[in-house]
Amino acid sequence: MSSGTIRIGPSVLAADFTRLGEQIAEAEAAGADYLHVDVMDGRFVPNISIGLPVLEAIRSATRLPIDVHLMIVEPERWIEAFVRAGADVLTIHVEASTHLDRALHAIEDAGAEASVTLNPSTPLVMLEEVLPLVRQVLVMSVNPGYGGQALIPSSLRKIQRLRTMLHDQNPSCRIQIDGGVNASNIANVVAAGADTIVAGTAIYSQDRSVAQGMALLRSAIPS
Ligand code: DX5
Ligand code: ZN
Repeated sequence: MSSGTIRIGPSVLAADFTRLGEQIAEAEAAGADYLHVDVMDGRFVPNISIGLPVLEAIRSATRLPIDVHLMIVEPERWIEAFVRAGADVLTIHVEASTHLDRALHAIEDAGAEASVTLNPSTPLVMLEEVLPLVRQVLVMSVNPGYGGQALIPSSLRKIQRLRTMLHDQNPSCRIQIDGGVNASNIANVVAAGADTIVAGTAIYSQDRSVAQGMALLRSAIPS
């Protein structure tokens, strides 16, 4: 896949929250394809991040598509609220939702694109039955909860296997990867079959501007 067909979404978790509006504008100006927003509840993951009021503020600050990653228990209780607050794509964890088929339909009924994800230790077979229902599968390449962790290498084989599964069942489904993606590994991530990249600390860093971070990632993808 060439760099032109790869979508890159900054994860605002790594942004400077004291100037979130500017950081979003910088991502937009740098050519971000979408924004990734991490919602954590302190139960599904051992961290608490941001919720509905901040998502509403982000929605009002950008025209970019917003991809919301719910790391919360019982995500089905919150689907309508997160879509109303601005989610264009809503990702829920297979480990968190007892009635995954119903929840994914509910996301589409609420007007967003349904996306499903799984932790690094969860086998792909857990998604097999719902693959035809989703627009995107997110392969977590770190244990969710924190930015700035190292990519777990076995995630690449998981993406390859998912690409094969989707070939028959849902060939237009996007494969997203989240966690530890940087300029050193993005070529391998794309070669494995991911077309939708999340990058937090590789884009929002004190060492370089958002534009430099985006450009480094893009230039590391073979054309
Ligand atoms: C982790 C989050 C990620 C995180 C990625 O639980 O889901 O979206 O922000 O950050 P990096 O790219 O720094 O690993
Ligand atoms: Zn995420």
